[in-house]
Amino acid sequence: MNVAVRAMPGRGRLALAILAGMAAAVPALAATDVRLDPFDPDLTDKPSLQRGMALFANYCLGCHSLKFQRYERTADDLGIPHDVALRNLIFTGQAIGGLMETSMPAEGAKNWFGVPPPDLTMVDRVRGTAWVYNMLKGFYVDEKRPFGVNNRVFENIAMPHVLIGLQGVPEVECRGKKAANILADRSRILEKDPAARRVREDNCSWTRVVPGTGAYSAAEFDQAAKDIANFLHYVGDPGRLERRRIGYWVLGFLAGLFVLATLLNREYWKDVH
Ligand code: HEC
Repeated sequence: MNVAVRAMPGRGRLALAILAGMAAAVPALAATDVRLDPFDPDLTDKPSLQRGMALFANYCLGCHSLKFQRYERTADDLGIPHDVALRNLIFTGQAIGGLMETSMPAEGAKNWFGVPPPDLTMVDRVRGTAWVYNMLKGFYVDEKRPFGVNNRVFENIAMPHVLIGLQGVPEVECRGKKAANILADRSRILEKDPAARRVREDNCSWTRVVPGTGAYSAAEFDQAAKDIANFLHYVGDPGRLERRRIGYWVLGFLAGLFVLATLLNREYWKDVH
């Protein structure tokens, strides 16, 4: 690899270096030894998308924007009447045609969290729907972190567990000393130590919620996480729904055309045979 790079002229070398950098960066982002529960988004499930939008407006939009997405388009795609959206989903005093901006000042956000909460319009496309779903379910109590919680999927996340009121207080339990030590040892960078991550994953159970601390049952919370992930999947490519709708029309048109063409063909050849 290095030899090839050296033998190339300047610009080619730069291009190759950029390509190599990209190739190295992609697995770094995608590679995770965390077990992800599978989740297939379903854009035909309108009630789920509507609940996802409501949860997002109430629990996420205070910090995260969806700044490539307009309220009006979203309400129309999801079958939410404009007056209902204006009354129940828009808290920033914006008009229905406005972009889904956060009211959090960017400068303050950086000071408060260390990292400003990123825009989430594209998060589904970058991270994947299952990742988002698992990350929302992945918080656990960790006294060493500033907000008292850590995240199984996003180690040392700078985001508080904003859904704790719904889920309840999630605690993690590890079998065996080794797994418990790995969990407790903050100095160990788990991303760079996949073996440690696997021991931790295999020996810890992550779903224990202190009874009576959440408004939702385990199944209801699971559904809420799915609804938000489903909604963010829609936001990542809002044209998907429409493309599918148009696709059926196109296929129907082609089927009709096929029948007509066959009949016409028969008509033409009728006298020849
Ligand atoms: C109190 C502010 C706050 C709220 C409310 C909040 N977040 Fe976050 N979120 C953050 C911060 C800060 C980060 C950056 C974390 C980091 O980089 O360590 C983040 C990161 C994320 C990420 C990872 C983005 C990436 O690809 O790096 C996702 C996904 C996410 N949040 C989803 C949500 C969802 C869904 C909700 C609503 C249920 C929500 N957040 C509510 C502050 C918030």
